[in-house]
Amino acid sequence: MSTTHEAGWAHASGALRGPAWLRQPVDPNALVPQLWSMTAHKAGGELHVGGLSVPELVANVNTPAYVLDEADFRARARAFRDAFAAYDVFYAGKAFLCTAVAQWVHEEGLSLDVCSDGELTVALRAGFDPARIGYHGNNKSLVELRRAVAAGVGRIVVDSFDEISRLETITAEAGMTARVMVRVTAGVEAHTHEYIATAHEDQKFGFSITSGDALEAVRRVEAAPGIELLGLHSHIGSQIFDSSGFEVAARRVLALQARISDELGVTLPELDLGGGFGIAYTTQDDPSDPAQLATEMTKIVEHECRALGIPEPRLSVEPGRAIVGPAMCTVYTIGTVKAVQLDGGAVRSYVSVDGGMSDNIRTALYDADYSCTLVNRVSDAPPVLSRVVGKHCEAGDVVVKDEFLPGDLAPGDLLAVPGTGAYCRSMASNYNHALRPPVVAVRDGVARVVVRRETEDDLLATDMGDAS
Ligand code: LLP
Repeated sequence: MSTTHEAGWAHASGALRGPAWLRQPVDPNALVPQLWSMTAHKAGGELHVGGLSVPELVANVNTPAYVLDEADFRARARAFRDAFAAYDVFYAGKAFLCTAVAQWVHEEGLSLDVCSDGELTVALRAGFDPARIGYHGNNKSLVELRRAVAAGVGRIVVDSFDEISRLETITAEAGMTARVMVRVTAGVEAHTHEYIATAHEDQKFGFSITSGDALEAVRRVEAAPGIELLGLHSHIGSQIFDSSGFEVAARRVLALQARISDELGVTLPELDLGGGFGIAYTTQDDPSDPAQLATEMTKIVEHECRALGIPEPRLSVEPGRAIVGPAMCTVYTIGTVKAVQLDGGAVRSYVSVDGGMSDNIRTALYDADYSCTLVNRVSDAPPVLSRVVGKHCEAGDVVVKDEFLPGDLAPGDLLAVPGTGAYCRSMASNYNHALRPPVVAVRDGVARVVVRRETEDDLLATDMGDAS
């Protein structure tokens, strides 16, 4: 984007060259391997994932469809488990959760982070061991907390004094113990390539360390007979590429831990450093691998604990995007191709697909970058700078802002967008009464629909008609 416009980047002029990082591909038919799941490859122009031809797959399940590479998901889950072998790894279900995925998470030996009653329902329906579930959220109701405690959820991450009061009530009435972590705000806000360490913490999550609320929350929890305090929790953001933000957060949280030890005589056995590990959406992204992250984070914690003279807590992390993000791609059918004349005479190719902001809101919501490729044939046509847009009634309904695509794209061709596993199906909507697409898991030549496509009956199921 080279200029801004009050109505947003989609309206800006002068963007025709695309962003500085976008290069014309040497071979537009080839996949960029680091953006795709591990079994993805092209053969004769057709994308194959999990041993299946994607054009053949979608001939059966239709488009749009999310294709989930099970082997890739499991391999990434295992890589985190092995790299963080001395830690507990909680898969963050908010990125994407269904009962099949909860089972894979269990089978690969990870724990599970849920942040709503709905996610807890899916986890329990999948038979996930409640003792290995962590429960997040800044506004858990009495009813939700009662259910979590009764189900035996392994740890509840408390986020407010109101919630501590609710847990005091629940544990007293039920005669049960709730195991909790206290979420603290370390004053670090991490973004993709940089982090900002600020003194003020102007956001809704956690207890502020600097204001003294975090220490007070620990005091309250420690004093509550039915609440067992496991440790502190810090989550600094999402899509983070280096460990420097974690380093600042760990230093601040461990300093609080030392203060808790001095002032309250309490040694906290655990510490959670949250999720947020970045993935590659386009060629501009260069994420660290889990082993490198684990080494760096362990070094930071060891060093700080030694300096503060406190024992090292057992660490845990909560990756979501880094496990499921690259494991999925979304396949669309092209419906229209329009050459749009811009100011100055340049032309942008608008390629409309049969989904859009209802199945991937991230481009519109976060100005996120994606890439995409033609997946049903080889094309020798010279690539043209294109914008892939959805079919919703809104100009900001963009899936891929800028991509070089073959100049001969036509209705009926298939496009696939890699890296859509995290926060796409989980944030999908029925905007314009779109039917949310299925998630099809593929593995060793076998496809299984793990989340089916919505139907018109689903759409109308909550519509009560005119009751008068
Ligand atoms: N733990 C906590 C406490 C979190 O709040 C989150 C994400 C995670 C773990 C997992 O973060 P991950 O490893 O997936 O980055 N919808 C946004 C991302 C929101 C993240 C919310 N919290 C997006 O599409 O980029």
